[in-house]
Amino acid sequence: MSIQKFPEHFVWGAATSAYQIEGAWQEDGKGESIWDRYSHRPFMIQNGDTGDVACDHYHHMPEDVALMRTLGLQSYRFSISWPRLLPEGHGAVNSKGLDFYERLVDELLAAGITPMATLNHWDLPQALQETGGWANRQTVDWFCEYARLAFERLGDRVGYWVTHNEPWVIAYLGYKEAGMAPGLADLTLANRAAHHLLLSHGRAVQLFRQGGYKGQIGIVLNTSHFMPASDNEKDRAACQRAYDQMLGLYLDPLYKGAYPQALLDWLGPHCPPVQAGDMALISQPTDFLGVNYYSSNLVAHDHNGGFWRNVLSQVSAPGWGRTAMNWGIYPAGLTAMLLDIKENYGNPPMFITENGTAMEDTPDAAGFVADWGRVSYLRAHLMAVHQAIQAGANLKGYYVWSLLDNFEWSQGYKPGFGIVHVDFVSGNRIPKQSAAWYREVIEKNGVEE
Ligand code: FCB
Repeated sequence: MSIQKFPEHFVWGAATSAYQIEGAWQEDGKGESIWDRYSHRPFMIQNGDTGDVACDHYHHMPEDVALMRTLGLQSYRFSISWPRLLPEGHGAVNSKGLDFYERLVDELLAAGITPMATLNHWDLPQALQETGGWANRQTVDWFCEYARLAFERLGDRVGYWVTHNEPWVIAYLGYKEAGMAPGLADLTLANRAAHHLLLSHGRAVQLFRQGGYKGQIGIVLNTSHFMPASDNEKDRAACQRAYDQMLGLYLDPLYKGAYPQALLDWLGPHCPPVQAGDMALISQPTDFLGVNYYSSNLVAHDHNGGFWRNVLSQVSAPGWGRTAMNWGIYPAGLTAMLLDIKENYGNPPMFITENGTAMEDTPDAAGFVADWGRVSYLRAHLMAVHQAIQAGANLKGYYVWSLLDNFEWSQGYKPGFGIVHVDFVSGNRIPKQSAAWYREVIEKNGVEE
């Protein structure tokens, strides 16, 4: 068995987000978020699940950090709940909420774990949704107020900052497809939201630089490798549209200072509302790009394929089947996507900020989960990352999604993504087989083939 070594100082971590694990949804002065509101609406979430209690991480935090230490994690990616800090989105600060993140960061540092803090992992304060949420340009100013507060209080100790997690999901799934909070269905609003997310990212980076905080800052995008269903010109054009809609709409402004022209032409009256100076703010340099990768898509032209005139189908490499959420499994797409970013966007320093799989994990009588399927998935994807590094991609680290089984948005608690099993009744945490395997990977800084 040979071992594929990763570069020296490669960062190994695991990721979570506030709404998916914290619970304590109205404790210690926390305000309501759009996800509290959305999950409390009937029929929005499988099984009527909500994040009210989730993993109750708010009360289990020291134990969870101790667990991370036993797993050998070098970094932990978490998100800060904006309404826990600013219940109304701006104005009055909830000091108890801030205290929680102060304690979390201190606890992590004491355990030798570098914090990576995401400012916006989707849980916008509901109060700001009442005035239009991300479709309202003023939300950019409020985000800056929140970002400044977080930088001021935690900036001396946080190693990596992420402005937004997956703006495509917020804008397109939240404002156009209605599958995520706030549950709207309007293409113009979606593009307004996308633009304001990017603009607020740029403004927060500017603030960060001006404040001279230590640490690094970047943004996290959801990615996919898109392949045309055939060589036919229409399929190739449909594939480019899919790419531009999910990736070009974000990568081009961030790295090239302009939206893709073909995308703007296609969007016509639904174009993002750009004002003078916006693109310069959006494209100012960041320290890293975070990429979340789960699956790849075949794209075909389809006259009945809605606004984009295309249909996407997730592909699985031979022998891989599908995940418990019916997602395709295609490790080679990860290599291809990373190399595409390397070639077309100047090879920025990158972290894989999420990668992992949902499985029907069945604990044995002792609560242990022998999730060898997840081990295979993670190994194959790490090998794909390794290949991209060999081919010159500037990869700095990898975070498994997720540390804990948690609230998987509209899917509720059924699909478990964790390398640690959580008993949602007793609150017990039991590391799965994949956690033991990952610990060894970290120890060796390499993956056995
Ligand atoms: C990503 C989200 C993350 C998690 C995974 C499975 O899109 O960022 O919160 O739900 O998918």
